[in-house]
Amino acid sequence: MSRLLALKSQTESCVKCPLSNSRTKVVFGNGNENAQIFLVGEGPGYDEDQTGIAFIGKSGQLLDKILEACNFTREEHVFIGNIVKCRPPQNRTPSQEEMAACLPYLEEQIQLVDPKIIITLGATALKGLTGENLKITRERGNWRFWNDRLLMPTYHPSALLRTPSLKKEAWEDFKMVIRKYRELVDPNHYCKYI
Ligand code: URA
Repeated sequence: MSRLLALKSQTESCVKCPLSNSRTKVVFGNGNENAQIFLVGEGPGYDEDQTGIAFIGKSGQLLDKILEACNFTREEHVFIGNIVKCRPPQNRTPSQEEMAACLPYLEEQIQLVDPKIIITLGATALKGLTGENLKITRERGNWRFWNDRLLMPTYHPSALLRTPSLKKEAWEDFKMVIRKYRELVDPNHYCKYI
């Protein structure tokens, strides 16, 4: 069993916060265990809680379209996880305590996958991972470092569904990721748009 799978089974019996009482399934994260891009979302919604698969509902479908436009696949290029692994009731924002209880799992996951690039999706993911009270509208599109790894903050797909005019900026952010991926991982990565 890989260390990542061992960590997955550890999370499946986690009772470190009250979200464990209401969850159907723990959503550990999905994708390539050795991906060079690690996407971080906020937390499971209804569909994710039911299936145990990250970003499988409406937001996930939009995320898949964005990844497809970048010519990135879940199987090869990315791993997708969340700040909290269990669904907050009514999809509320996870509390500080819930995020703090879950963060060590995410930190270990990132270490094990060992990606060159991290993308945080939305304000909660950015704040939850960095521990800083940052504004997504200000930070998006700007590379920063998190534990010596490059991090690109961008909008959450659900924000893009609510406010489609933000899609243009999000696409600029993903184009920066493609360029960085070419620089650091595969100079020949094909994308028909850039
Ligand atoms: N929204 C998230 O932030 N994460 C998911 O896994 C699904 C929806």
